[in-house]
Amino acid sequence: MSSARQHFDQMYQADPDPWQVASRWYERRKRDLLLAALPRERYAHGFEPGCGNGETTQRLLQRCERLCAVDFSARAVDLCRERMAPEDSARLDLQALPLPWQWPQVPAAPQAGFDLIVVSELAYYFDDAALAHFNRQCLASLQGGGHWLMCHWRHDAHDRLQTTQALHDSVAAHAQLRLLLSHCEPDFQLDIWQKNP
Ligand SMILES: C[S@@+](CC[C@H](N)C(=O)[O-])C[C@H]1O[C@@H](n2cnc3c(N)ncnc32)[C@H](O)[C@@H]1O
Repeated sequence: MSSARQHFDQMYQADPDPWQVASRWYERRKRDLLLAALPRERYAHGFEPGCGNGETTQRLLQRCERLCAVDFSARAVDLCRERMAPEDSARLDLQALPLPWQWPQVPAAPQAGFDLIVVSELAYYFDDAALAHFNRQCLASLQGGGHWLMCHWRHDAHDRLQTTQALHDSVAAHAQLRLLLSHCEPDFQLDIWQKNP
């Protein structure tokens, strides 16, 4: 197990909600903004890399027919699974995988890709090589016309390897993407791009 994976696993063992995403007003408001910003009411098959304990996953499942959610922490995946209602679990494909070097199966034709990718508070943990690979994988996994959301805290943190500006710029640099929405405030940045059909 990588030391990063172990680090997150230990955080979730010590506290099932290490960032207080369920209770803090900042997190609750950010999640509401994220969900309100999604341009479509319904998505066919979403992908949420770095899903954590499933607080956002549960809400995304209300907007997606199917959802693939991945986290490399087995403890986070267990916490995410535990909170799902049995009737929702059948629509959720939950996997413990180290991204971006392992990747979940992408919906096959005729859908040919996810129509929504939600990257929230994850990508700053990637070094340059991992970020470039992650972006390539997201782009290849997104169907034409699909939406790619990135939402990241803008302040310094001891374990971040990228600035939020650099992360979002690295996605914006892809010519196949068109920016649909950009929301920036002192604490976080939220952008949504659409892949050319
Ligand atoms: C700060 S939490 C964010 C959780 C959730 N997306 C949110 O916005 O509340 C970051 C999550 O990413 C996961 N993570 C970090 N690096 C990862 C990697 N390389 N592969 C998969 N998951 C990773 C961690 O285990 C953790 O659950």
